[in-house]
Amino acid sequence: MPDPERIRTGEDHDAPSDGKDLALSYARTLSWLSLLLILTTTLSLSFFISNSARETLLTRQENFARSLAVNLNYQIFRRFFLPTFFARGHIALRDNEQYERLDTVVQSVIQGLPVKRLRIYDFSHRVAYSTEREELGKVGLAPENLDAVLEGDTPKPETIAGIPAWQALCRLPLSEGSFMLRVLYPLRGELDGRPTSVMGVLELTQDITDDYEEVVAFQWIIVAMCLISSVVLFTLMLLLIHRTEKVLALRMEKNRMLEKELHSNEHLAGMGRVVASIAHEIRNPLGIIRSSAELLHNRTDKADAGTQRILGAIYDESLRLSRTLNDFLDYARPRRPKQELADVNLVLDQLLAFLEGEMARHGVSVERDTVPELFVRGDRELLYRAFYNILVNGQQSMDGPGTLRISGRPDGRGGVHLEFRDSGPGFDPRTLPHLLDPFFTTKDAGTGLGLPIVQSIIVSHGGRIELLNGEQGGALVRVSLPSAEPSVVSNA
Ligand SMILES: Nc1ncnc2c1ncn2[C@@H]1O[C@H](COP(=O)(O)OP(=O)(O)OP(=O)(O)O)[C@@H](O)[C@H]1O
Ligand SMILES: [Mg+2]
Repeated sequence: MPDPERIRTGEDHDAPSDGKDLALSYARTLSWLSLLLILTTTLSLSFFISNSARETLLTRQENFARSLAVNLNYQIFRRFFLPTFFARGHIALRDNEQYERLDTVVQSVIQGLPVKRLRIYDFSHRVAYSTEREELGKVGLAPENLDAVLEGDTPKPETIAGIPAWQALCRLPLSEGSFMLRVLYPLRGELDGRPTSVMGVLELTQDITDDYEEVVAFQWIIVAMCLISSVVLFTLMLLLIHRTEKVLALRMEKNRMLEKELHSNEHLAGMGRVVASIAHEIRNPLGIIRSSAELLHNRTDKADAGTQRILGAIYDESLRLSRTLNDFLDYARPRRPKQELADVNLVLDQLLAFLEGEMARHGVSVERDTVPELFVRGDRELLYRAFYNILVNGQQSMDGPGTLRISGRPDGRGGVHLEFRDSGPGFDPRTLPHLLDPFFTTKDAGTGLGLPIVQSIIVSHGGRIELLNGEQGGALVRVSLPSAEPSVVSNA
């Protein structure tokens, strides 16, 4: 249920702004969440790309190592095993000459290739041959799955990491031998197109540290690029959020002000209605006071000058007061304009005939330049009042002889365009923005309702009023009135 106290005071602006604040904070949280999502997605993507790059490199290295092992096996069998066996009847690698012979074959194959070491194990897991001669005859160096290979199995090449992969990320450049690739291959030959039995196991060890280092550097480049682009995106979005927040805050502030203004306008409008009904109630008794004062003034002995003066003052003041009241009521309770066909020229004819004496008394000449056939749809009486106020203002501003110029012509869109110029001092630029405010006046006896009434009449006709100063001085009032429908004109 609404709080009656708050509705009455008209100060309840918190609820809607709370709602907007909530929406703003949702937008902020959402933006942060989406930014985090972007960041995690790009990082995961960068890891995925760099990992697949590493996998590709390893696969390439493994394929190369396997082909090398196959080639070595073939070369050893053909160029060492067969000739030695047929020449000596047995293979004894402890024999220096045999070792040298095998070593020559091996070196001729692996020369220039990134091979760290090559070993051959015999069935007792002893090193039968090694490119590092001091290892010859050693036991305990063989890998665990050697037996499986001795039985003819060819296992997948294996990466031997000297340091954990995550440490390698932060330890660039890597020291030599940090990452090795080991291939085990059963050593056997081929006779008459059939494979011989396994004679030992080839162990080929390759140093892949350099390649690994390249992959790690590549990983870093991808991560850095993703991070940089995310940070740029992040900053841009933050700026956008900040800017949106600012704009929203400004809008909210503006809305708050508008709401406040609306409440105060409603309040003022209420007060205006009260004052208008009071003014309406005063108007009739005031009329009686004025006519009674006039009656008494006529009945009083002319010799009683003092009483006559007092009665005259009562009459004048009540007349002024009732004029002010009428103006106020015209402004506060504007009449809906009649929708009759109004001939602007006719309205001006009547008005100028009425003002002729007054203008002549002040030495004001009126120059009129209006084309015939200026029709609008509206209320002749109200238009008369509006033009009257403009012309009287012009005459009053000149404070003596001068010229009032009236021009009227079609505006090209079926409406009428009127201009009223005077040869007075023109509108004061300092007060110009306030001239259409009710009760703004610079005259001692003015109500300040003349121009607001003019504006209200013109606007109620769907027209526009503009106050400016003429190029040759003097005030210029421009009035635009929309067209009368052509059908109405022709029927008239
Ligand atoms: N033609 C004009 N030249 C210079 N100033 C003008 C002109 N017309 C109006 N003004 C200025 O605009 C003010 C407001 O005019 P408005 O007609 O609303 O009230 P008013 O003339 O002061 O009073 P009232 O119309 O009730 O006699 C005037 O007091 C005057 O200062
Ligand atoms: Mg006036």
